Amino acid sequence: MTATPAIITIDGPAGTGKSSVSRRVADRLGARYLDTGAMYRVATLAALRADADLENPDAIADSVADVEMTLSNDPDSHAVTLAGEDVSGEIRTDAVTSAVSAVSAVGAVREKMVALQRQIVAGEFAVVEGRDIGTVVFPDAELKIYLTASAAARAQRRHDQNLSQGRPSDFDEVLAAVERRDHLDSTRALSPLRPADDAITVDTSDMTIEQVIDHLVELATDRIGAR
Ligand code: DC
Repeated sequence: MTATPAIITIDGPAGTGKSSVSRRVADRLGARYLDTGAMYRVATLAALRADADLENPDAIADSVADVEMTLSNDPDSHAVTLAGEDVSGEIRTDAVTSAVSAVSAVGAVREKMVALQRQIVAGEFAVVEGRDIGTVVFPDAELKIYLTASAAARAQRRHDQNLSQGRPSDFDEVLAAVERRDHLDSTRALSPLRPADDAITVDTSDMTIEQVIDHLVELATDRIGAR
């Protein structure tokens, strides 16, 4: 099967099931998958390792300027490297999650990531997941999806996930963290989180992951045809 180049963007806040949905939709469509949040996490890890002052955008920009990262294009793989080292586990730690909003708010970091994102999927059929993919990175994408869910539904999912993985979890604290990150991501000056004007918004609060995947595959097939 030779894929014609086409881009499907999937944006939205954390906790909507966006990552699992995006991977599985890519898999079902035979498309490449790109997790841009992982790229901002690698940049953040680089800034933390360089001991950059997170209150100083120039220091953050300097620490990220020469970062070399790779991401697997296999939807089943989470492999991500920083300067050749596998950091796929480390980019999910609390230290990185707490610092990523500061790093991803820096203009020079975003410019570098956006250029890299465009380069990685150039000429491919790809599902690209993030926050600003439909608005900034690929404004001419063939299909734009904005996945959303109520803060309470998203916090509940994170809370259940913590408990099922044996981590202590307090629902009110999880909800406060979800709301804090939403606020930071949607009010930042550069590329704030918002749906593109031509995005299709899908509220996943009362949907299972399977239902969301089926719905998006149907939208993709209607819009751009099976590949
Ligand atoms: O999807 P995630 O939680 O792994 O993303 C990590 C952070 O990266 C998130 O707080 C917002 C930021 N991000 C961004 O600014 N732009 C993107 N395209 C993707 C993620």
